[in-house]
Amino acid sequence: MSEAKRLAAEKAIEYVTDGSIVGVGTGSTVAYFIEALGRVRDRIAGAVSSSEQSSERLRAVGIDVLDLNATGPLALYVDGADECDPQRRLIKGGGAALTREKIIAEASKTFVCIVDPSKQVDVLGRFPLPVEVVPMARSLVARELIAMTAGQPVWRQASEGQGVVTDNGNWILDVHGLSITDPVRMEQQINQIPGVVSVGLFARRPADVVIVGGEPPRVL
Ligand code: A5P
Repeated sequence: MSEAKRLAAEKAIEYVTDGSIVGVGTGSTVAYFIEALGRVRDRIAGAVSSSEQSSERLRAVGIDVLDLNATGPLALYVDGADECDPQRRLIKGGGAALTREKIIAEASKTFVCIVDPSKQVDVLGRFPLPVEVVPMARSLVARELIAMTAGQPVWRQASEGQGVVTDNGNWILDVHGLSITDPVRMEQQINQIPGVVSVGLFARRPADVVIVGGEPPRVL
């Protein structure tokens, strides 16, 4: 699938406009986009990054990483996804960067999502839904998620008893066993639980464009 990811990422360069600041997501597909963006770095004014990992990669190819508080709204955000439905609604957060990804998506006029064909589904939920939580609320949020969704939340751990810590110092619950027929509603409901920082459902603000990598890439 890495060739499909690369092809989707290369196509996304067509959406980059001269002199702009580009919002950049996280993950293995975005790594190809950063490589390609590095080749046109003289055309852009810098990037806003959704993770420490992407910031490092951006700097390595000579692109300045800027603070979203200083840039104002962005013209373009490019990011991958874990799942994508026909309405361009997404599950994201497999790389634990969902909160910053959601912030940059909201701050951007156009959100271009780059995926390989394995990410396409009819109904979201086969990929466990990531929810970033304040650590002290982990059990509370897990109980509320079970009552609300009938899914099974699993604490994402780096090793036995050690939670994966996000760039924001929080933990992740991955909710298994969902079939998300109304993603906008589920996103709103999960956001209401005290202790939830963000949920990896991008339905209220879906992608504007999805590029599915292939020869040639397909634009949805
Ligand atoms: C990061 O938190 C995620 O939202 C990624 O965008 C998603 O996991 C896609 O990653 P890959 O491009 O590595 O498949």
